[in-house]
Amino acid sequence: MTAGGTSTTDEQSVRQRVFDILEHSRRRDVASRLIDSILILLIVANVVVTIGQFVPEIAAAYGDEIFAFDRLCVALFALEYAGRLWVAPEHLMLRDRSALGARLRFAATPMMVIDALAIVPWLLEVLLPHSELIPLTRLVRVLKLARYSPALATIGRVVAAERRALLACVIILGGVLLATAAIMFAIEGRQQPERLGDMSKAMWWAAAMLAKIGGGETEPVTALGRIVAAITVMLGIFCFALPVAIIGRGFYEEIRRRDFVVTFAMVAHVPLFAKLDAPAIAGLVGLLKARTVTPGTIIVRKGDPGDSMYFIASGTVQVAIEKGAVQLGEGDFFGEMALLYRGPRTATVTALSSTDLLVLDADDFLRLVDQIPSLKRHIEAVAEERTNTVS
Ligand code: CMP
Repeated sequence: MTAGGTSTTDEQSVRQRVFDILEHSRRRDVASRLIDSILILLIVANVVVTIGQFVPEIAAAYGDEIFAFDRLCVALFALEYAGRLWVAPEHLMLRDRSALGARLRFAATPMMVIDALAIVPWLLEVLLPHSELIPLTRLVRVLKLARYSPALATIGRVVAAERRALLACVIILGGVLLATAAIMFAIEGRQQPERLGDMSKAMWWAAAMLAKIGGGETEPVTALGRIVAAITVMLGIFCFALPVAIIGRGFYEEIRRRDFVVTFAMVAHVPLFAKLDAPAIAGLVGLLKARTVTPGTIIVRKGDPGDSMYFIASGTVQVAIEKGAVQLGEGDFFGEMALLYRGPRTATVTALSSTDLLVLDADDFLRLVDQIPSLKRHIEAVAEERTNTVS
């Protein structure tokens, strides 16, 4: 019983570690970064080699090598796929399911479908050895890069979030296209039978006008036709501007949401905020701005006016005071003295490592300490202690 329990625990901890390596791209985890780099390299090399395969001279000269490389990629991608499936129960949102249920659910996620498709060309080769489609299907592997591009993932999330509005745009565009094509067909179908003589030709004309690539030589020949053409061009501007505006707003919302989540996670690293209740933390997150500085950055310079204070979510900074240097780390704060005493900065603060900071503007600082007296007392006590150290 004990032995069985131990082995289950061992398996779980191995699975947790593999999960961290495969699914969490952590900057500080060397193994995770290494695996990510190898996979990215493999995907890029794969796409380059596949394109090379379309060049007859390259295909003739390196056919065997390309084949061997493809087999290696299939093996590694299959291993990666199996690994991701195995660790699926470790995903937070799948923990309440059985191991099999979690794996089946995870296999249906878009990235896992892409991962499965990356192995499919090999299956196709076995089933249809001479299909022209095989090299083309290998190019699907480039989509695996989406996992490593936060920007691409953001686009995916924005499109998914705005799908209803975007679908409405497609319906409007389709309606406008059909209506203008039908009207033009009715007005000039007889005058210009070779260009507007059937609905397919009229639709091509309407699409060209709506997309503002012009109607080519198909200029309307009647006054009514010219009016319809002018309206079509203007409707085109409206139809194409609409999805651009929707996606733009979606991006803004997504970035705001992400900033909020990042800030929220960073607030958890500052013990000073740990005792605050949820509404206070939510209010605080709205006031704080996340900022990352590189080693050597001077964050605060002695004598400058103070416009904000800083909480350290991770990393180390050095405060240069007359008696030497003081180091502050995760959970500490600085820059409060200039705000409390409404004077210039009392010391220069420099980042010693890559440091994640939460920045609070002076006005928000004053509002916050008014709202949360315990926070005010704590910051004042620390500032007083520091004043004594400075002098
Ligand atoms: P401020 O004066 O706004 O800007 C410099 C900051 O350095 C100061 O606020 C404090 O937060 C910090 N600081 C000053 N003296 C000390 C000290 N002795 N120990 C730690 N931090 C200090």
